[in-house]
Amino acid sequence: MSLLRFCTSLFFLTTALLSRAAVTQKDFSGVGHIYVLNSSDWRTGSPKQKVGCLDNNGRFLAEKSLDDCGTFVRLDDYPWTLSSKEGNCTFNDETTATNTDSYYGKNDHAWTCNASYSAIIYDELFTVDGFPYPFLCSGDLNCYYDAKAVPGAGDVTPMWAFRWGSQQRGITPGHVMLQLMWSKLGDNKRENIDIPSPRVVLKDGMQVPLQGPQVKS
Ligand SMILES: *[C@@H]1O[C@H](CO)[C@@H](O)[C@H](O)[C@H]1NC(C)=O
Ligand SMILES: *[C@@H]1O[C@H](CO)[C@@H](O)[C@H](O)[C@H]1NC(C)=O
Ligand SMILES: *[C@@H]1O[C@H](CO)[C@@H](O)[C@H](O)[C@H]1NC(C)=O
Repeated sequence: MSLLRFCTSLFFLTTALLSRAAVTQKDFSGVGHIYVLNSSDWRTGSPKQKVGCLDNNGRFLAEKSLDDCGTFVRLDDYPWTLSSKEGNCTFNDETTATNTDSYYGKNDHAWTCNASYSAIIYDELFTVDGFPYPFLCSGDLNCYYDAKAVPGAGDVTPMWAFRWGSQQRGITPGHVMLQLMWSKLGDNKRENIDIPSPRVVLKDGMQVPLQGPQVKS
């Protein structure tokens, strides 16, 4: 093998390894956009399935340009929550729309960023070590989200957490199952931030559904 061929194959080997580099907690920090993916399986989910992003109000937007997407900052300290210029982001604002079509999500409120809201640890979104991309999960390892449909260009729609149980095992009938993905734009000012990991670490090919717990009816 010539030196050039050797270097070329080494280059491809390295990029193949790099492109498979697994996510760590540091990958979900700083400032970024949140992409919305049309995906119901984190093992195959990828940015190719992007159907929109979240806007500064926390709603699912089919953006015309990335400039229309919200810009979020993750706190580099407890409770590690997200905010936009509209305020702290939460699923617990009782003034937002509920997921009335859903069997188990009827009382769930849509995600929102609200100026008068003080975030608590239950508002934290987090990623999981070993993910292929920085997908965002909430609550008890619930890594999927629910919306009525993918909005038309320039439109917005509410986004809820995905819920399942024996009466409704999959996504709400007629709705679309989504994943969220962090698209980092910049780092925190502070270095050496230490964000605690959730209590699961994914290894290659691990069959973990990450759909959150079954809701008992
Ligand atoms: C979302 O993905 C599903 C499954 O791959 C596909 O059938 C559907 O057409 C997609 N919807 C949109 C709006 O991209
Ligand atoms: C923001 O949250 C507060 C407290 O939960 C609530 O009283 C208020 O109505 C919300 N504001 C908006 C604009 O939704
Ligand atoms: C947002 O939440 C953080 C964390 O609880 C809090 O320190 C901050 O004051 C909140 N911001 C507003 C505008 O309420």
